[in-house]
Amino acid sequence: GDMGKALQEGAKGGHYARKSAPSFAQRRALGAFVLLQDGTPNPSGERPNDPQRNADNLKAASYFLGVDAVGLSRCPDWAWYSHDATGEKIDPPHPNAISMIIDQGFETMEGASGDDWISVAQSMRAYLRFSLLGGVIAQQIRNLGYQAKAHSVMDGDVLQPPLLLLSGLGEVSRIGEVILNPYLGPRLKSGVVTTDIPMTHDKPIDFGLQNFCENCNKCARECPSGAITAGPKLMFNGYEIWKSDSQKCATYRITTEGGAMCGRCMKTCPWNLEGLFSEAPFRWAASNIPKLAQPLAKLDDMVGRGGLNDVKKWWWDIELYEDGGYKPARKPINRRDLSKNLDVQYKDQTLAVYPAHLAPHPWPYPFPMDREKGIAAYEAMITAEEYRKQIVDGRLDPPHKYSASGQSPVVRVEVSRVEKMTEDITKYEFKSLDGSALPEWSAGAHLDVLVAPEFLRQYSMSGDPANREVYQIGVLKEETGRGGSKTMHRIFTPGRKVFISKPINHFELDETASKTFLMGGGIGITPMIAFAHRLYALNKEFELHYSSSHSGAAGYLSDLAAAPWANRVHYHFSQEGNRADFAKILRGYEQGWHVYLCGPHRYMEGVVSAAEAVGFPEDTVHLEYFSTPDVPDYENHDFILRLEKSGKEIFVPADKDAATVLAEYGYAVDLKCSDGICGVCQCRVLEGEVEHRDFVLSQKQRQTTMILCQSRAAQKGGVLTVDI
Ligand code: SF4
Ligand code: SF4
Ligand code: FES
Repeated sequence: GDMGKALQEGAKGGHYARKSAPSFAQRRALGAFVLLQDGTPNPSGERPNDPQRNADNLKAASYFLGVDAVGLSRCPDWAWYSHDATGEKIDPPHPNAISMIIDQGFETMEGASGDDWISVAQSMRAYLRFSLLGGVIAQQIRNLGYQAKAHSVMDGDVLQPPLLLLSGLGEVSRIGEVILNPYLGPRLKSGVVTTDIPMTHDKPIDFGLQNFCENCNKCARECPSGAITAGPKLMFNGYEIWKSDSQKCATYRITTEGGAMCGRCMKTCPWNLEGLFSEAPFRWAASNIPKLAQPLAKLDDMVGRGGLNDVKKWWWDIELYEDGGYKPARKPINRRDLSKNLDVQYKDQTLAVYPAHLAPHPWPYPFPMDREKGIAAYEAMITAEEYRKQIVDGRLDPPHKYSASGQSPVVRVEVSRVEKMTEDITKYEFKSLDGSALPEWSAGAHLDVLVAPEFLRQYSMSGDPANREVYQIGVLKEETGRGGSKTMHRIFTPGRKVFISKPINHFELDETASKTFLMGGGIGITPMIAFAHRLYALNKEFELHYSSSHSGAAGYLSDLAAAPWANRVHYHFSQEGNRADFAKILRGYEQGWHVYLCGPHRYMEGVVSAAEAVGFPEDTVHLEYFSTPDVPDYENHDFILRLEKSGKEIFVPADKDAATVLAEYGYAVDLKCSDGICGVCQCRVLEGEVEHRDFVLSQKQRQTTMILCQSRAAQKGGVLTVDI
């Protein structure tokens, strides 16, 4: 799902993992282990078939290699994704699952706040260890003659939480989808090997966690983004779960500037235990005496467990700079201690959830998340208790039942040809995978090309609209651009399968024109070629004018020379002394003439003013430009907060936010994310117009409430009366 510009920037090129040095080092190695994940079984393997012996050996080998806990279960069909990342249907191939968990490291977590600069490195360390160990176990099973695939963070076809539950590695916790293990707490990463080797299965476990989490709210209180519910378990998608707001969590983890990602819920949970024996009394009491859950949770808090321990902090807080170096972090580091005085109440939380009908479609194409609907969906969920009552009353209809509808906005095609036309301009052709005709298109259309998940780029189609065998685009490599065209030049090679949109046309040709001028500057020539093909097919009068600095920089020269309409093409190479004189080209305007133009900004300005000057009406001048939705660039200005209870007026300068200024005046404002995500700093507004800059409130809530850490008065010098 598309969750806005800040998130896109933070995620681009995996920046959230790259920005921390020890994380990036491991992230690269992770890619190498993909080679171990899957393969063909040895046809002359021994195929041992004693299920108990196989189970014992698999566990022994896993523990010997260094897996922290391993559990065996069936791998039911519903634990498999329905489709893989390319859209291919998955037919569940293996009946069994070996679930493994890897400790993220107690010592380091002791020294961390959970959301400072070591956080993402702890995750990567655990992912890396599973990729290697799970990969080795999978390979050994294949050596024995059975099928096996390791499902890692890089590539997996199964949902891991239900498999962890089935194999007895933990229980569902308040944190949400995190399965909590009685020895490691939530401080773990998991991985699964699926296989067809016969094995006996373990059983799910109950160590009293449901009761414990009901009596403990610590993760909800400590979560910096306010993503964890302080309320009851609800029914989501047929599961009974403490449903967290994954949008808030993802936003915080990817955009936080004071660290890299987050695992504060793991760090502060009372079950974040040190070892098998050192906290055995806690584990025993928490599991066996339900009444002790609340006192134990309180005691854990009182003694400051989950707080900061600077003695254990061994790493430097360094971050990736634009020049590629890792240097001391620029922004204040997230070194928060426990917020013992914060009382997070469910009634004050604004949470969103995205069931199937609101979730992003399965295709790799942007899908804006509708938080309003997400909030409403959260409110519509019923408690597990209500659901049980419904079952007793015989109301067995599932409370939510959705099916995906609509057609894919993208098609998967093969790069069939790559032709470097100049030093910087390359022509790419795409054909369908099965050789069938591609969807129809018309001159002026463009394609959205999914270069990489973070680079969706629009390119005008340059071929002949009558040709449905291939689509063709021309791409200029922009050295100083945002990276999309450079990535494309690097990775789009013949045979590569890529996703593109169906042709989209915002630049329609008026086929009734009595004469058409096609004006292309630089790479802006591409749509003009498609127009020329069409106009020629219609037997219409047209001229194509192609401007470039010199012929060596101009792409498509041989295509233009070979076109049946080659005699209509005029070349203008400024460095070769024949710069285009737009006024001369367009002079003598007659009714029914149209001009189409595409090129650099200054080129477009030149053509437009010449067309205007010679009398082309506005609606006969057609421009091609692409726009991408942007989050507005807010401008900060001063404003005044009027405090209702005391009548006091507080000046908020442009360089500070309301929450900071209130704190300076001694008013306690609960603060967590400071990014407008978590919602703890919300405050009632009695009067005044607010510019809402948060990502948490619903439109309805915005009528009466503001987020103090981000939102401001709508006008410069505006006055907001707040309920303080
Ligand atoms: S923001 Fe951090 S503490 Fe909150 S749920 Fe996400 S990972 Fe856990
Ligand atoms: S912090 Fe408390 S409520 Fe949250 S998962 Fe741990 S035990 Fe459960
Ligand atoms: S502190 Fe999180 S929204 Fe303001």
